[in-house]
Amino acid sequence: MSVPKYKIPEMIDLPDRQWPSKSITQSPQWCSVDMRDGNQALPDPMDPDQKLEYFQMLCEIGFKHIEVGFPSASQDEFDFFRKLIEEDLIPDDVFIMGLTQSRPHLIERTLEAFKGCKRGIVHAYIAPSDLHMKQVFGMERPQLIETAVAATRQIRALADAMPESDIRYEFSPEEYTDTDVDFSLELCEAVFAAWGKGTPEKPVIMNLPATVERRPPNHYADMIEYFCRNFSKRDCITVSLHSHNDQGMAVAATELALMAGADRVEGTLFGHGERTGNVDLVTCINNLYSRGIDTGMDFSDLGHVAETVERLTGMPIYYRQPYAGSYAFTAFSGSHQDAINKGVHKLSEAPDRFGMGWKVPYLHIDPSDLGRKFERLIRINSQSGKGGIAWVLEQDFGIEIPKAMQPELGRYVQAYSEKVGREISADEVHQVFQSEFVAPEGPYELIGYWPRPDDNDPTFIHGEVKVKVNGGEKVVSADGNGPVSAFVAAINQIVEVDFTVDDYHEQAVGKGADAQALAYVPLKLEGNGVVFGVGADSNINQAAVRAIVAGLNRIAKK
Ligand code: KIV
Ligand code: ZN
Repeated sequence: MSVPKYKIPEMIDLPDRQWPSKSITQSPQWCSVDMRDGNQALPDPMDPDQKLEYFQMLCEIGFKHIEVGFPSASQDEFDFFRKLIEEDLIPDDVFIMGLTQSRPHLIERTLEAFKGCKRGIVHAYIAPSDLHMKQVFGMERPQLIETAVAATRQIRALADAMPESDIRYEFSPEEYTDTDVDFSLELCEAVFAAWGKGTPEKPVIMNLPATVERRPPNHYADMIEYFCRNFSKRDCITVSLHSHNDQGMAVAATELALMAGADRVEGTLFGHGERTGNVDLVTCINNLYSRGIDTGMDFSDLGHVAETVERLTGMPIYYRQPYAGSYAFTAFSGSHQDAINKGVHKLSEAPDRFGMGWKVPYLHIDPSDLGRKFERLIRINSQSGKGGIAWVLEQDFGIEIPKAMQPELGRYVQAYSEKVGREISADEVHQVFQSEFVAPEGPYELIGYWPRPDDNDPTFIHGEVKVKVNGGEKVVSADGNGPVSAFVAAINQIVEVDFTVDDYHEQAVGKGADAQALAYVPLKLEGNGVVFGVGADSNINQAAVRAIVAGLNRIAKK
């Protein structure tokens, strides 16, 4: 019988699991391992100046646990650790963390690196999985427990010799998700006892890694719930998660494991880290934020964070990366654009209708919370619809296209985008609007319009129009109940179509001395539909007559 290459991972025995009916209602503690797990996996690791900039950014975001490196791994790592301490670069409420293998000479060097620090976490690890013990270490279980216990005692003794520093302990049974869960528990209990001073105030951090994502997220949650339920002094430990993303489910695994009772999450910004990386903390944190949980983290200028991480790591962020990708909040498709446009305009009704301040189609979070308010949410290509085009003109130019005009404008913009064969800019959308509706080419050119109120009845208007028709100047006059109706009566004497203007839409664009009126005038043609023209002028009546001339040129063109 041939042995299969892979097999379905077995679940642990937990028929009364509770986590599926739990919700995450409060924030875990967050720990950044960017400068260790993330940095060790970069093609070009950061130099000390870059590391310092990264560290300061993590502090600004609000991280209180920051794994700064692996001080015993190299002189550079050690020196950077020392620089932070000696140059007093660590905020008082931040714990710096240093990783070490559970080996005596490395532990000694690691603790040397911590000398003089105010608050630190020594993080030791060992892999208790059968895979590691049999294939890598050649060790049996009792020997592995002995090694971890001896390492813990050594760390405790060295930490006790630094009473001026608040040194805490973190222990990781590496490959937790590939290890017999009862053996992991036994190991962690032994380590906890060896540390000997875990209390609710100063808990030992038991970090339970999915070092390689070999299982689905629900298995991780089961294993975390099992650990939380069975650890003897649960209130004296912090249960910490550390997931990698080999199967692309690290965020899901982390969320389910939080439901299962974990207290703390280790990860990196944008998921840097070995192979497919660690869990992406930007996604985890903003997921909770988007559900109304105070995470204690500040991503209000996510663009700056993204730019800094890209520059310092030399690795670009993918366009569709949640929250930070340049397309994360962009809608190209017409129906999405239309719905976003409507939803944003009706936002003030959201609290009454949905009991929350933000509820917009296709946008689960307000991009401006992440400092993304100035960028384009809606982008225009040949798939785009009228709503998106109207949105772009409103957002970028303050132009509010009336609903009845939107389908026709949409068709022109689409045709333009198809012709150029690419996404088009807001300026190009504006140009299409200008050239099709405001200043279309045609036979008519308005030279001037002088409306004059009647001497006896100021509501009655005598209008005189000077216009060029195919280059030849003409002057016509007529009367009306207002400036626009007098103009229509006058111009109707020289144009070849019969049209009326019943009603039109106007708006102001800009403020103060620069303000302009925009008039959107539908010309109703005798039995032949409606054609819009748009006019701009500092005077609303002049804007309306310009709109009529634009409409007449459009009719002539058609
Ligand atoms: O992934 C892992 O298991 C680790 C440990 C050292 C915590 O990075
Ligand atoms: Zn890791």
